[in-house]
Amino acid sequence: MTVAARSFAKINLGLYIGAARADGYHGLRTVYQTIALHDVIRVSVGRGSGIEVLCTDPRVPLDSSNTCYRMAERVMDELGAKGRVSIEIEKRLPVQGGLGAASSNAVATMVALERALKKTLAAAARLRIAAEIGSDLPLFLVGGTTLGVGRGEEVYPLPDLPSVAMVVVTPEVGVSTPKAFADWDALVESDISRRDSRPRLSSRAQPGSATRDHARDRLTRPGASDRLFGVGCVLSAWLSGLPNTGAPAKGGSRAGSLLLDLVRTGIENDFERVVFPKYPELRDIKGALERAGSRYASLSGSGSTLYGLFRLPAGAAKAASRLRKQGLKAVATSTLTRQKYWKRILDC
Ligand code: C5P
Repeated sequence: MTVAARSFAKINLGLYIGAARADGYHGLRTVYQTIALHDVIRVSVGRGSGIEVLCTDPRVPLDSSNTCYRMAERVMDELGAKGRVSIEIEKRLPVQGGLGAASSNAVATMVALERALKKTLAAAARLRIAAEIGSDLPLFLVGGTTLGVGRGEEVYPLPDLPSVAMVVVTPEVGVSTPKAFADWDALVESDISRRDSRPRLSSRAQPGSATRDHARDRLTRPGASDRLFGVGCVLSAWLSGLPNTGAPAKGGSRAGSLLLDLVRTGIENDFERVVFPKYPELRDIKGALERAGSRYASLSGSGSTLYGLFRLPAGAAKAASRLRKQGLKAVATSTLTRQKYWKRILDC
């Protein structure tokens, strides 16, 4: 039996990078949002042993470095299952696009493989295995609007907000996430050196001036943990202001603006500061989305995908068509609620 699963993409509504940790990862805060664009994963289990990955896109690795391969290996092991696993990836989402496609593919493999084996893992085991494979996997076990903390792997479901119209633009370039994090570290380092090279009075000549310098730095350049705390306050304030319906809100202008209310708080994606100087065309695309009427445009993850949120589907469709006329690969779609995410994942 072959089980097909939709592997939906995500965007990041704001992404704040904290300090590099001892394990090489960075602490971060982000709001993940699943969207309707997707790949399709087909999983079957037959006689024999081993795992095979099939994909016609030459950029997708077919060996044990593939996230789907790693997931199948872990799930078979955890469930004590036997058989030959075949995973076919129908690629529609960009590779290295910041839409979490490889992570989503792995989670779709998990969901489809459980169904094919007629066995299920405990929810906490699913989350643990997903986090071991990559920071961006667990969000796809929650779906909808999700808060990501830690290195992004610690996820908490946020209220299931109504879907919002959007446009996704996929440029030709791919951005490496580890490289983008390394560039962020270099930027922070250069900020610190610039600050330290500022002329200052010697502490011997001015007793107490070192303390004053420290105080000034704290005021003018908040540290990484202060920034994460700051965005935590913004998110908490936004969450506190949400209507306490207990159920997904129905359509309508107020309901549709709940996610837009979040982005109106001024949240940003820190990766723009290192990715835009390197790929100025991506900054131009963000500008083009804004000129096409987007209420909020941003890089997703480390890019290179950019998205724009719109008040109405008709506005998104018009903007996508206008951007395509400018030679951009633009598509109108919408954010995907948690309820729809789980309803549609195996319904294909
Ligand atoms: O977790 P994942 O394997 O997707 O991360 C890929 C790479 O991105 C890591 O090896 C690390 O270099 C970088 N990363 C990071 N901080 C995070 C997430 C990823 O530095 N929070």
